[in-house]
Amino acid sequence: MEIDLHDYIATTPDFPEKGVMFRDINPLIGNGAAYRQAINQLIDFARPLHPDIIAGPEARGFVVGSPMAYQMGIGFVPARKYGKLPRKSVNAKYGLEYGHSELQMHVDAIQPGQRVFIVDDLLATGGTITATMNLVRQLGGIVVGTGFFIELEDLNGRENIMKIDNVPFKALLEY
Ligand code: PRP
Ligand code: HPA
Repeated sequence: MEIDLHDYIATTPDFPEKGVMFRDINPLIGNGAAYRQAINQLIDFARPLHPDIIAGPEARGFVVGSPMAYQMGIGFVPARKYGKLPRKSVNAKYGLEYGHSELQMHVDAIQPGQRVFIVDDLLATGGTITATMNLVRQLGGIVVGTGFFIELEDLNGRENIMKIDNVPFKALLEY
């Protein structure tokens, strides 16, 4: 029986600052059946796009991308926050709904021409995901699609992705 994943998102107003409606995925990933359904739904979307590798940003993108990659039998590339990677890396700065940040990927993480499906838990302004797309493209990867548990529709993240590239897009839940 299909689970309504909305039942596994907790909403907290004014976190981490006033005016932000924080959508928390912890109940979803804390429930085995809900987590498995969400991952399988994103895999069903990603598989026909034939990715060679999955990429996702720190930290919650790892919780989405790693189980997808494991189940699909392909690799996972983390986009790490600045200063965490030991070897030569590419960088992308971005603005957040609250604050600024910078992501990095090792230069050998993706080979030119590899097909990359990019995931995260939640799409807000799109800053994080467009920075991840930017890293993949700096390394010569082809972004074949993007997938999320949640899209916050009012923040125009999807539009910002499409400004870079009109890639296949999937969000399991919209708020
Ligand atoms: C959150 C969320 C997404 C991003 C969405 O991560 O997990 O990655 O913000 O916002 P955006 O679309 O406006 O970029 P956060 O930067 O809080 O990091 P965390 O996963 O390490 O908590
Ligand atoms: N919930 C969780 N993470 C977020 C949000 C949110 O509403 N906005 C930006 N990152």
